[in-house]
Amino acid sequence: MRVTDISQRGKFLAGENVYLPHIVVIEKIIDETYDTRTFRFNFKDEKLREEFTFEPGQFALFSILGIGEAPFVISSSPTRKEYLECSVRRVGRVTNALHRLSVGTEIGFRGPYGNGFPLDLLENKNLVFVGGGIGLSPLRTLIWYVIDNRDKYKNIDIIYGARSVADLCFTHDLDSWEKDKTVNMITTIDKGEKKWTGRVGFIPQVLGEVAPSANNAIAIVCGPPIMIRFTFPVLEKLGFTPEQMITTLEKRMKCGIGKCGRCNIDNLYVCRDGPVFTYAQIKNFISKEY
Ligand code: FES
Repeated sequence: MRVTDISQRGKFLAGENVYLPHIVVIEKIIDETYDTRTFRFNFKDEKLREEFTFEPGQFALFSILGIGEAPFVISSSPTRKEYLECSVRRVGRVTNALHRLSVGTEIGFRGPYGNGFPLDLLENKNLVFVGGGIGLSPLRTLIWYVIDNRDKYKNIDIIYGARSVADLCFTHDLDSWEKDKTVNMITTIDKGEKKWTGRVGFIPQVLGEVAPSANNAIAIVCGPPIMIRFTFPVLEKLGFTPEQMITTLEKRMKCGIGKCGRCNIDNLYVCRDGPVFTYAQIKNFISKEY
């Protein structure tokens, strides 16, 4: 069930009180890099386990009692119903606390929130995924969704990069996509390293070299702000219009449902109007704000 009416969001999962989280149990912890972990979890309540659904690109607010709450995109795909995942980089109080948790721990979860990727727009298109570092997390949910519904989409290019080999996230997924003959997977690191035999170069530069066609294509970009800022002009040079470029923004959030104003950028609330936006929507303020 996707809750598109903002007044209804959270009701499905939290009864009358939209701020009341449900309990999820951590089932597995995967070390992605030295500072990033993927948490696999599931609802304690069996009914929720069966009924919960979301769309690629939606996020949830995760809470640890006595510490706080933080938003993370659901990084697993809704096509893999047995579990949910979110990937967390250790950068602050809540994320540090999350990294200290072990399998079996119960935490709070409320969501799904946000608009998710425009799935209708992506159908029958060539898709160009451009991701940097932990920015692969929101792309990953959509990439698996697209692969699991492969006949609905045309060519798939994935250009993924990180600062170094040690910073590459989701290496288990990268291996699968490399082996998938229906996907063109390119992985790059910023500077060459001894054992690295793959591509070397910054993502915008590699994107320019690969030069995917803009014809009937949508580019979905996610990564550090600096990468996003340098990637959009490359896509424009390749002929992508601002409407053909999509990204997902991250902002500090509190309520997650358009009430507190914490996630405001210009006239938009990232939680309510996003987190997925076309470049056309955010073009005017992205260089100032992001
Ligand atoms: S987080 Fe409260 S309005 Fe977006």
